[in-house]
Amino acid sequence: MLIELENIVKIYNQGRVNEVTALDKVEMAVEAGAMVCLKGPSGSGKSTLLAIIGCIYPPTSGRAVIAGRQLARLPDRFLTMHRRRTIGFIFQRFNILPRISVFENVVLPLLPLGMSPKERRALAEPLLERYGIAHRRNFPAGEISGGELQRVAIARALINDPPIILADEPTAHLDSRLSRDFLADMLALKEEGRTIIMASHDPLVTEAAGVDRVYGVHDGRVTKDAC
Ligand SMILES: Nc1ncnc2c1ncn2[C@@H]1O[C@H](COP(=O)(O)OP(=O)(O)OP(=O)(O)O)[C@@H](O)[C@H]1O
Ligand SMILES: [Mg+2]
Repeated sequence: MLIELENIVKIYNQGRVNEVTALDKVEMAVEAGAMVCLKGPSGSGKSTLLAIIGCIYPPTSGRAVIAGRQLARLPDRFLTMHRRRTIGFIFQRFNILPRISVFENVVLPLLPLGMSPKERRALAEPLLERYGIAHRRNFPAGEISGGELQRVAIARALINDPPIILADEPTAHLDSRLSRDFLADMLALKEEGRTIIMASHDPLVTEAAGVDRVYGVHDGRVTKDAC
C-alpha cells in the first residue's frame, strides 16, 4: 500500500483547555494509482487527514506509512524532505501569491532545494505549456483568470513530479465548468499512475469519473462509503 493509516489519532492543543481530537482511530489504506475522496461536513477532520497524509506533521499516535516511510519515526527535517519528494498539494483557494508571477508561483516548491534558475525553468516550462499558461508566465498571479489560477495550482503541485497529489476542497471556488475541467485534469494525472486524494463535499468531485472510493469523515472518524 502506498498510504497506510492505522489507529491514527490527532489531538490539537493536547492537555490544554482548547484540546480538540480532530482524528479518532482512523484506518485507511490507499493503493498506488487510486483516486479517492474524503467527504464530510465542516470541522470533521478532512484537512487534518490530508495534512498527515501530506507529511506536514505526524499523528499524535498511530501508525502512518506514506510511500514507504513511517512518519512518527522521521525527524522534522526528514519529514519535510519526504514531503517534497512525495507530495503535491492543491489547496482550497489555491494559495497562489498574487503579487509574484505565474512562473514564480509554479516554481515556489523548488526554492528550498537550491536549484539553479536554469534547472527550475527546465522543470516549469513543460508544465506551463501542458496547462496552457505559458503565455501568462510573467503576469502577476493576481491578474489572471480563475481557470488559469486553478491550472497554476496544478502545475505547482506537479513541479516536483510527486507520486501523490492531495487536493483540499479544490472546486469550492470554481463554477461547474471549471470544476469539470479540474476533474478531467485529475483523471489524466491518475492515468499517468499518480495517486489522487481529494477532500470535498461537492458531488461533482465525489461522483467524478475515476474516483475509486469515497471515505466518509464525521467527527474525526473515517468510514468507507459505497461509491
Ligand atoms: N491548527 C489547529 N489547532 C486547533 N484545532 C484545529 C486546528 N486545525 C483544525 N482544528 C480543529 O480540528 C477539527 C478538524 O478540523 P479540519 O480543519 O481538519 O476539518 P475539515 O473537515 O477540513 O473542515 P472544513 O470542511 O471546514 O475545511 C475542527 O474541530 C477544527 O476546529
Ligand atoms: Mg478543511
